[in-house]
Amino acid sequence: MSSIDTDRFPGKIRRIGVLTGGGDCPGLNAVVRAVVKSANNLYGWEVVGIEDGFDGLIFPERSHLLTPAEVRGILPRGGTILGTTNRGNPFSYVMRPGSDPVDVSDRVLTNLRELGIDALVVIGGDGTLAIAQDLMKLGVRVVGIPKTIDNDLSGTDVTFGFDTAVATATDAIDRLHTTAESHHRTMILEVMGRNAGWIAIESGIAGGADVILIPEIPFRVDRIVDAIVARQHSGSKFSIIVVAEGAASADGGQMRVGETTGAGARFAGMGNWLGEQLGKRLEQEVRVTVLGHLQRGGSPSPFDRVLATRFGVAAVRLLGDGAIGRMVAYHGSTVDSVPLADALGMLKTVPPDGEHIRTARALGIWFCD
Ligand code: F6P
Repeated sequence: MSSIDTDRFPGKIRRIGVLTGGGDCPGLNAVVRAVVKSANNLYGWEVVGIEDGFDGLIFPERSHLLTPAEVRGILPRGGTILGTTNRGNPFSYVMRPGSDPVDVSDRVLTNLRELGIDALVVIGGDGTLAIAQDLMKLGVRVVGIPKTIDNDLSGTDVTFGFDTAVATATDAIDRLHTTAESHHRTMILEVMGRNAGWIAIESGIAGGADVILIPEIPFRVDRIVDAIVARQHSGSKFSIIVVAEGAASADGGQMRVGETTGAGARFAGMGNWLGEQLGKRLEQEVRVTVLGHLQRGGSPSPFDRVLATRFGVAAVRLLGDGAIGRMVAYHGSTVDSVPLADALGMLKTVPPDGEHIRTARALGIWFCD
């Protein structure tokens, strides 16, 4: 904290900015609403809505005052009224496609001053919060709010958006069950989860899957064949496999397209690859469903609406208390906060010997390791 230049943004807070960065998720609008309302009600602060992550601070015409009237009715809405991007790091910004990245953080500091923004509420995942921390080192008063449907951020038990994504995936498994049963098929459902299998394990347990494949436990195709055949011998004529997009086969690894590392890495194709492998080796028909961005869309669940609202209010209170550089977090059933640094750099993955996996194994769910 000693490296923070606190003189750059001195004095009382009168106006704060709020932005959403990274992939969207259900509950972002609920947070924005909570920030605007509570800043206004608790402290009489104005709130500036910053569009498209940090881009709205590089191009300040994309920032505007957000009044409580403007956030009316957005609580149940999916997505983010502010827009978002998972590109756009001001410390390494590509001004034009193909040009070299440049550091425009000075421009961000100037625009923050010109917009009269005394402090920032940054809603995002790992990448967005890391940028927030770098701005903090330049003296910007920042608090963070964790979001990701993947639930893989350290420093908090849960992120909003995850509950809704699990509900969407569970509903898909329920629907696949009835058609799998009718046709005596093996159904594969690919869900999101690049590095962590939280959506797969929770929806798999909730939906009664027979096989769950997650990045944390490399699987073997022959073990999946064994599982399906064992089920057939025991009289079960259909099977449901839930596979996380980032699951890794012990011999073939993960399936990535485009950039293979970093924020730009995309995981695609594991469900279809698995479908092909099993199709060749099983007598039963195999079908694949890739749930994709349906998991990120739609109205947040009641749990996510409440968590997002609690996070939004807690972030404003942190700023009111002068507690900068912290991220609101959920522990047990309490909203508290941790240093931003605690949330960064280390992913929260599913412990392979943890209680979730032991519960699933006790039910006879196969991980095929
Ligand atoms: O990190 C959240 C997430 O939904 C991942 O599960 C998924 O791999 C990724 O975002 C997809 O990102 P994009 O929308 O950029 O394709």
